[in-house]
Amino acid sequence: MAEKLWKGRFEQPTDKLVEEYTASVHYDSRLYRHDIEGSIAHCRMLAECGIISHDEASLIVQTLGEILRDIERGKIELDSSQEDIHMAIENELTARIGETGGKLHTARSRNDQIALDMRLFMRESIATIMDLVRLVQSTLVEMAQIHLGTVMPGFTHLQHAQPILFSHHLMAYYEMFGRDFERFKDCLARTDVMPLGSAALAGVAFPTDMNWTARRLGFPRVIANSIDAVSDRDYLIEFCSNAAILMMHVSRMAEELVIWSSAEFAFIEISDAFCTGSSIMPQKKNPDVPELMRGKTGRVYGNLFALLTLAKGLPLAYNRDLQEDKEPVFDSVDTVTATLRLLGKMLPQIRISRDRMAEMAVQGFTAATDLADYLVGREVPFRKAHHIAGRIVQHCIQTGRELTQCSLDELKTFHKAFDEDVFAFLDVFSIIDRRLSVGGTATVRVKEAIARAKMELESSEPSSKKNTTTEK
Ligand code: ARG
Repeated sequence: MAEKLWKGRFEQPTDKLVEEYTASVHYDSRLYRHDIEGSIAHCRMLAECGIISHDEASLIVQTLGEILRDIERGKIELDSSQEDIHMAIENELTARIGETGGKLHTARSRNDQIALDMRLFMRESIATIMDLVRLVQSTLVEMAQIHLGTVMPGFTHLQHAQPILFSHHLMAYYEMFGRDFERFKDCLARTDVMPLGSAALAGVAFPTDMNWTARRLGFPRVIANSIDAVSDRDYLIEFCSNAAILMMHVSRMAEELVIWSSAEFAFIEISDAFCTGSSIMPQKKNPDVPELMRGKTGRVYGNLFALLTLAKGLPLAYNRDLQEDKEPVFDSVDTVTATLRLLGKMLPQIRISRDRMAEMAVQGFTAATDLADYLVGREVPFRKAHHIAGRIVQHCIQTGRELTQCSLDELKTFHKAFDEDVFAFLDVFSIIDRRLSVGGTATVRVKEAIARAKMELESSEPSSKKNTTTEK
């Protein structure tokens, strides 16, 4: 391991196993860009406030820029010989410019440094995820637009319930992802707070200007309490919670894609590019991608619990336990990002079997509610109408037919109010288009929902690329 920056008060070297056990560089090295970005801002602030000279600051900043480029070109290996990314970069800096490099860490600690790095990283990651959520939402809207004429059975208890527009079903997911978007946006506002300068926990005795650093890094505000600054992880828990809820939505959709592509449903066919075969059964084409989306939801839930459990017993302020926050957060960021990217790509390539969906939309007595409603329209109380429709369904089951296969005479034996117009009333599009209530499946309502969604998407600006401040 490289020379330790904190070796001063130690007489004996660190145990090898302890070095391995405590190292985080193998995963926190992905924060190198944010670490350098934060250091550059800090360094400039120190010079602005007269704590170090402008010449010293320029040398440090220039060298940090070179280190950044060298890391990006793979010239510096960030491996387990370093404790963490902060030490690795600082060691590299002092190796290059000697003692001046040692001035960078004035008026800060690794505790506020990691707090800053994670906020910078999360700010970017959340923005990327928000853009991907929007991408999936626009895919859903496009599909809903194309499929306005496609009907399907709506389900409750996974039993045929009432016919609906396939577009209406798709737009339900649009709404869920819309709330996910809002949740991430909300969490982004609480992430976007600048902690650097809180140092170990108590603040610093130098005349620093945290607002200057915040402006430089594009943060709208500075965190209010230095103890909170180094020990708060609730914005990460909030992120993991939002990620878990989003994945729950994805997983529900994935589950539908899996069952809908079965021979029993045969509603859809997922493109070959998103399926795999079996090593033993030559005929198999498995929906692995949605299955893994469903499966990976589990680890995203697990990450939330890892963080909640990690934080629950910690006294203020910083504790080393907090180093364990990174892998679950990174895993949720990576899993959600990859899942959304794939979902956005897979959805438009799914083949929809309109005929099969339409055939199924009218099977299983999905018009039974409307049969009752027909009688209600002829002054029969709903409870009575419900009972009569139920008896007609029973009659159809016994005679092996669908509702619309009954003759008018047969229907009349159940209630005299039935008339010739009942058949038009039970037409699948009449059923659908009568459901004009707010948020209902009627074609006009779904068209309105699509139009609203398009407006929402058009007025939604990209979230990423807003905060790129690195001085090169
Ligand atoms: N690697 C540490 C972490 O991720 C950085 C802060 C270390 N602070 C300390 N006092 N040891 O939390």
